[in-house]
Amino acid sequence: MRDLRISITDRCNFRCLYCLPETEAAADFYRRKSTDSTEAPQPIQHEWKPRSHFLTYEEITRVARIATDLGVTKLRLTGGEPLLRRAVPELVRQLSELEGIDDLALTTNGFHFDKHAEALRAAGLRRVTFSLDSLDRDNFKKLTGRDGLGELLTAITRARELGFAPVKVNAVIIRDLNDHEIEALAQFAREEALTMRFIEFMPLDSSRAWQREHVVTGREIRDRLQAAFDLEPAGMEHAAATATRWRFKDGKEGQGEIGLITPVSEPFCGQCNRLRLTADGKIRTCLFSLHEHDLKPLLRGNATDTDITDWLQAVVLKKEPRHHIGETDFEQPDRTMSAIGG
Ligand code: GTP
Ligand code: 5AD
Ligand code: SF4
Repeated sequence: MRDLRISITDRCNFRCLYCLPETEAAADFYRRKSTDSTEAPQPIQHEWKPRSHFLTYEEITRVARIATDLGVTKLRLTGGEPLLRRAVPELVRQLSELEGIDDLALTTNGFHFDKHAEALRAAGLRRVTFSLDSLDRDNFKKLTGRDGLGELLTAITRARELGFAPVKVNAVIIRDLNDHEIEALAQFAREEALTMRFIEFMPLDSSRAWQREHVVTGREIRDRLQAAFDLEPAGMEHAAATATRWRFKDGKEGQGEIGLITPVSEPFCGQCNRLRLTADGKIRTCLFSLHEHDLKPLLRGNATDTDITDWLQAVVLKKEPRHHIGETDFEQPDRTMSAIGG
């Protein structure tokens, strides 16, 4: 395990259709699209816990420090929307001072990024990933439930100005919702020298409305992009990377890049080196874990660092070999993506 993904809040100011849809109408969009007439699944009711359930920054840093002693070199802060939590730069500073961390990143919806960008950079954050599923103001609003495209474009520009590198952008592609924007999103990456990652829609939405036919496969996306652009393979970033990469031969500064993240059609579980820590202190050994390991009683009891090290090692041995998306025995976890962090 080299990669610890830390969710610092389950709160979010967006209501993305594929994650935490707000309205029944939004949730129904893909239910209606479905040709399967079986009974509609019950939405997952998210329980908003009081903030005292969240780990403090000191507790998070302690876990991260112990994890680095066990070989973790990569940290990613996620949410919900992480920038809804107070004083995130303070946490970034604590984490960036840990010995052994060579990669510290943040995943954000970008809405509040601009006002925190400088402080985050100064605190030691080196790179950032934004969620951007549409370049069309109305479609953006339909997908995220918020009129926030302008803020997000400002955030991306700001990140580049401040030297965050690489700036990555996540787009979850859903058939008949934003698949017509694939080429436009790629063109945006080419012009802005960004890394645009197209992600297959996974069954982690609170409406439990995921259907196989909503998934636009990486293969289909690649075929469309290859018809429109001059792309060349760019290899894998590292063995456990989630994305396969393509470079624009004629990208600005030679940098624009495409990543295809294909957990549904071409799972990459075999190489997974990721562990997740939830805001309320549970370790998840897989995005699709049905069982969580509660670390908070140890952190708030009198466990020593050695106790926690032993506990973490035992937990890691229970990591699931793979997910079962699309199989008859698949069971969607109760925790939605908004409370896992991606
Ligand atoms: P880098 O640090 O840039 O390599 O990031 P990453 O490849 O870990 O990607 P990122 O954190 O931006 O995650 C992008 C998306 O990939 C997530 O939001 C998830 O949708 C998906 N993803 C990441 N990790 C996993 C995983 O372990 N399993 C599955 N099924 N999907 C994942
Ligand atoms: N399927 C795939 N990716 C998802 N994300 C959120 N929900 C889903 C889902 N159901 C991704 C978004 C966001 C990141 C945190 O998680 O791309 O950027
Ligand atoms: Fe969207 Fe992220 Fe919020 Fe989920 S947590 S609703 S993916 S912005």
